[in-house]
Formats: sequence, C-alpha cells, structure tokens
Amino acid sequence: MPDTSPQSAIETLRADFRARLSAASTDRDLKILDDEFLSRKSGSVTALLKQITAVPADQRREFGALVNTLKTDIETALTEARAALTASRPPAGAVDVTLPGREITIGRIHPLMRVRQQVEDIFMRMGYEILEGPEVEDDYHNFEALNMPPDHPARDMQDTLYLAAPIVGGTWGAHRRAIPDAQVRAATLLRTHTSAMQIRYMKTTPPPVRILVPGRVYRRDNLDLSHTPMFQQCEGLVVGEGITLADLKGTFEAMLQQLFGDVKVRLRPSFFPYTEPSAEVDISCQSCGGTGCGTCKHTGWLEILGSGMVHPAVFEAVGYDPEKVTGFAFGIGMERVAMLKYGVDDIRLFYENDLRFLEQFPL
Ligand code: DAH
Repeated sequence: MPDTSPQSAIETLRADFRARLSAASTDRDLKILDDEFLSRKSGSVTALLKQITAVPADQRREFGALVNTLKTDIETALTEARAALTASRPPAGAVDVTLPGREITIGRIHPLMRVRQQVEDIFMRMGYEILEGPEVEDDYHNFEALNMPPDHPARDMQDTLYLAAPIVGGTWGAHRRAIPDAQVRAATLLRTHTSAMQIRYMKTTPPPVRILVPGRVYRRDNLDLSHTPMFQQCEGLVVGEGITLADLKGTFEAMLQQLFGDVKVRLRPSFFPYTEPSAEVDISCQSCGGTGCGTCKHTGWLEILGSGMVHPAVFEAVGYDPEKVTGFAFGIGMERVAMLKYGVDDIRLFYENDLRFLEQFPL
C-alpha cells in the first residue's frame, strides 16, 4: 500500500529534487529547479506547505518543521551546485586546451641550397676550405687578373652588369672568412663568376690552396628556360707542387659520383682565358643511361662544369711562381646540378617561390 502520510510526501519531493539536481548541468538548469521547487507562488515546496491544512492538528508543527528543513536543504544544495559550476568554469581569458591546435607548416630547404650544401659537404670531406666573396666586384678581380685585359674578346663570353656609380672602399665578407684586397679598388660591376675569388684568395694566402667558393653571380641575360640574370656557382681552386690534370679528373669523378650516383665522367677540350688547357666536363646522361635522348640532345652526355689547369699568367698576377706550383680550377652551376638531379626543366622555377613547386622537395 502506498504511503500517503505527509512525511512520505516530503521524502518523495526530496528524492525528486535530488534526481533533478543530479541531471542539472548549467546555471539555467539550476534556475529552473529553483523556480520549480522554491518559487513563493508556484514552487512544489510552497505547495507542500499549503497541504498543512490537511494534516491532523497534532502533527502540524512537526510537518511544518520537516518542510522547512527540506526547503533549507534544497536552498543549500542549489547554492553548492552553483558554486561548483562556477568553480569548474575556466577563468576569463583562459586558454581552451580542448580546442584543436593550429597546424604548423614546416619550411624546407630550398633545392638550390640543398645542392649547395651537398657540394660543400663533398669538398669539405676532401679537405677544402669554404669561403665566400663579394658580389660587387672590380674589373681587376673579375677580368683583368684572370688573364682578360681590357678589350680581351673573352670578356664577351659573359654579358656584364655594371654599377651606375662605382663603390669605393665597400666592406664585405660578413660570412665565413673575409679575404680583403691589399689594394683598394673601386667596385664597378656585379661579378659574372665566382672565379674572381681565386684572385682575392691567392693574393692574400701563400700556396698550397684548396678552396671552394659558393655564391651568387650576375649576368645580363633575359629570363628563359635556362637563363636567369642571377644564378649560383661554386668555384673550386687547388694549387700546389705537382698538381696535374689527373688530380683534376680524379676530383671531378669523386665529386660527380657522390652528387649524381653511378655516372661516367668525360673531359672535353674547351677555352677559358684563365686556364690552359681548359676542359668542359660532362657526365653520362641519367635519363637514357648514355644511349641518347631528348634531355642530352641525343649525345648521351650532359655538360656539368667548366675547368682547367690554372694559366701561368694568373699565377703571375697573384705573385705565385708558375715554375714552382701548378693547379686546377673549376666552376659549377648550382641550378644546372639541381635541374639535372631533380628533373627540373625550367630554371625560373627556382626563383618564383611557388610553394607548389618547393613542397615537392623532401624536408
Ligand atoms: N668562370 C666560368 C664560368 O662562369 C667557369 C669556370 C671555368 C671556372 C673554368 C673555372 C675554370 O675556375 O677553370 O662559366
């Protein structure tokens, strides 16, 4: 038989409140509970109190006390629940650690820088010193001391960008080891090749020499598939007693096989004013394995660098004794290496900073 005593009505309401409270999770839920149970007009507790008239007179006092206790209990429970809710909320301005993070896009090494680092590593292992030189040069270092006096026809091999006004006494060489020039000359041009640093180095350092000079060079070329007015080279120079063409060839074989894998290397006679003999160096075409294809223009070979044995006139210009020392030198284009290594057929891609291109290279 259901208990219909006034006490049981109180306990039913208490149980009802507990159940409702445990389901409440917001301030709004608590407000609704407050109204529903404690509202002076329509709250369930108020309604219960009104039933006092139905309670036998001798029990009214006790009933009233019990309802009041229930009312206080509900008030206390609501107050505590509000406090707990407030405490569980993050303070204003707090970081919401549950939000998904922002994706960090990781940059990668530019393909030209990667090639340069690889070339530097190879020569570093062979004991070369690596240094940089000025991009703004004077005529003497870029041409004259390299056996190209004024009006020498070989100056036309490279179309030069001249400065509007010469720079006198400029400073340079913030990177790595600076090689100053004993004589201060006015810079008049942008260097057309890194070969200018051969002169600066030998003028200030006695033999033996083993250096690698990476850096930017400039020429008056229009942009096309294989030309940019600025590009990057690595110059190499080795000088000492008894350096021969065999050293030159052995060095190139070691370097090119580390750079390109299992390739054949051949020397082709060429001309540079600062070397004698001069040679252009080819590697066997990787696309066709040497049988001939579009990449190698059906020759089976790809030109990769210019080189030669240092011309005695260059030694004389820097004060070395050509009777005592010999040497070899070379210049290798970074873009050319990168194009062949990564199968890029348009040099301009390296300088457009298009992420769709750059993101194709490994991290
Ligand atoms: N300076 C040449 C160029 O820019 C490359 C070169 C050829 C450098 C022969 C050398 C060399 O040191 O011996 O095309």
